[in-house]
Order: sequence, then C-alpha cells, then structure tokens
Amino acid sequence: MDIVLIGAGNLATRLGLRLRECNHRIVQVYSRTEASAKLLASLLGSEWTTQPDEISPEGQLYLISVSDKAVESVLAQMNFGNRLVAHTAGSMPMDVLQPFTINYGVFYPLQTFSKSREVDFAQIPICIEANSPENLEILHKLGRSISNDIREIDTVQRRQLHLSAVFVCNFVNHLYAVGEELLKEEKIDFDILKPLISETAAKAVEFSPKEVQTGPAVRYDRNVIDKHLEMLKSHSQWNDIYKLMSESIHQLHRH
Ligand SMILES: NC(=O)c1ccc[n+]([C@@H]2O[C@H](COP(=O)([O-])OP(=O)(O)OC[C@H]3O[C@@H](n4cnc5c(N)ncnc54)[C@H](OP(=O)(O)O)[C@@H]3O)[C@@H](O)[C@H]2O)c1
Repeated sequence: MDIVLIGAGNLATRLGLRLRECNHRIVQVYSRTEASAKLLASLLGSEWTTQPDEISPEGQLYLISVSDKAVESVLAQMNFGNRLVAHTAGSMPMDVLQPFTINYGVFYPLQTFSKSREVDFAQIPICIEANSPENLEILHKLGRSISNDIREIDTVQRRQLHLSAVFVCNFVNHLYAVGEELLKEEKIDFDILKPLISETAAKAVEFSPKEVQTGPAVRYDRNVIDKHLEMLKSHSQWNDIYKLMSESIHQLHRH
C-alpha cells in the first residue's frame, strides 16, 4: 500500500521500517518537529513535512501514531478527503476518527516499541477494527503482510486490553526500576536479578500467572511482610505499593 505516517516516534519508526521491509511504500512522514520527521523519512526513503496542511494526497492509508493527547488536535488540522485513516492507540475509541473521514479504523500493534530496538513483528498481535467490512478487510490484509497474528478487537475490548497491558508491561517494568534502585543502595549490580526476571516472565507465559505466584504475600508470611515494610520506611511510596501489592496477591489467592 501507499501509506502516509502521521507521527515519527517509537511506534511510527518500528512500524514504518516493518511496512517498508514488507514492500509497502511510505509516501510521506509528518511529525511536529523537523528533526524527527526528517530522520524517519531518511530511514524510509520518503518525503517529510512538519506542516499539517501539506499532508500528501497520495496515501491509500493514513496511519496516525502521535501521542494520544495530540491525536484529535493534529487530525483537525489535516484534510484526508474520504481516504482511509487509522490510529494505532490502545486507549482511544475508533470513533475519534469519525469527524475527519468516512473511512476509518484502528491498527493497534500490541507490543512495547522503542525507536532503537528491533522487534520480531511476525509475532506481534495486530488488533484491528474498522467502520465497514471493506475497510476491515484492507486493514486485515495490511496486518497479514507484516504479522502472523491479526485479531479483530472492538473499542471496548481494546480499552480493556490496553488497561491489562499497562499492568503487565508498564507497571512490571516500573517494579524492575524500583528493584534496581533498592539494589543500588547496597551497591549490588542489577545484573544479579536478570535470571529471576527471565524465569518469572517465562513462567507467566507458560502457565497462568496466578498459578505460579510465589513469595511472602501468597504465603501470607506476616513476619517477613512486616520486616520489608519496616525496611521501606524511608520510601513511603514504595512502602504503599508493597502493602497494596501484598494485599492484592493475598486477596486473589483467597478464592
Ligand atoms: N510505543 C509503544 O510501545 C506503543 C505501542 C502501541 C501503541 N502505541 C501508540 O502509538 C502512538 C504513538 O506512541 P509513541 O510511543 O510512538 O509516541 P512517541 O514516541 O512519544 O512519539 C510521539 C509522536 O507524536 C508527535 N507529537 C507529540 N505531541 C504532539 C503534538 N502536540 N502535536 C503534534 N505532534 C505531536 C511527536 O512529534 P515530534 O517527535 O516531532 O515532537 C512524535 O512524532 C500512541 O497513540 C500510542 O498509544 C505506542
């Protein structure tokens, strides 16, 4: 397909490179700042612009990958005619696109993306939704050209999926960061935790995470829990997180 990318951040970069690898043509990259638009355009061999009113009319599909809070204001400055527009956000309803074109949908790859890190796109679930069977088929076909895992997920399901993803990805990663900070206080390298992190993720993937829960909270060892809370006295937020997490684990395992 001939595709215009609106946004040049983490997702647009990885998705753009994959689309190009799979023989789609990126016609143009739009981004707010010249440096990011230019950089991605140079990687993709495409035109670029920072002017919303200079969006190319040549796209068969316009993929919107700007920050969630900017989507509506960016779209309001562009003219898509009746062309197909899809956003890539887990948290946003499909209908935010309705005022801007009669052909619209969602193309949401469920993975954590960073500009500089390659990912195996063939394994990434692409969650699609569209406002007509014809547009759904176009997004399905595009999805199949870059991944082996295409799912039809509606707005309500995607909202729940995104919430779940925040827990299993963003929050878990923050907990890694807290672990790293705690180790630093005793001059222990974070490397020592890496086999534990890998095994925890591997078990969660192989089994139900609930079934393989270990640690003081699931056993409800009060003496250990109290000692840890005491050690976290000078970190009041982490103390709160520890308490809440322990209660949540305990609750989930009581039934
Ligand atoms: N990263 C992920 O793991 C991931 C995964 C799935 C879905 N998504 C979705 O993909 C979309 C983009 O996420 P991202 O992680 O790629 O974000 P990002 O790396 O922060 O990039 C954001 C992009 O939006 C542009 N932008 C930000 N604020 C703007 C504004 N006020 N006006 C115009 N443009 C603005 C930025 O432009 P400049 O750089 O030029 O300033 C940049 O091109 C979001 O909807 C997100 O939910 C992301």
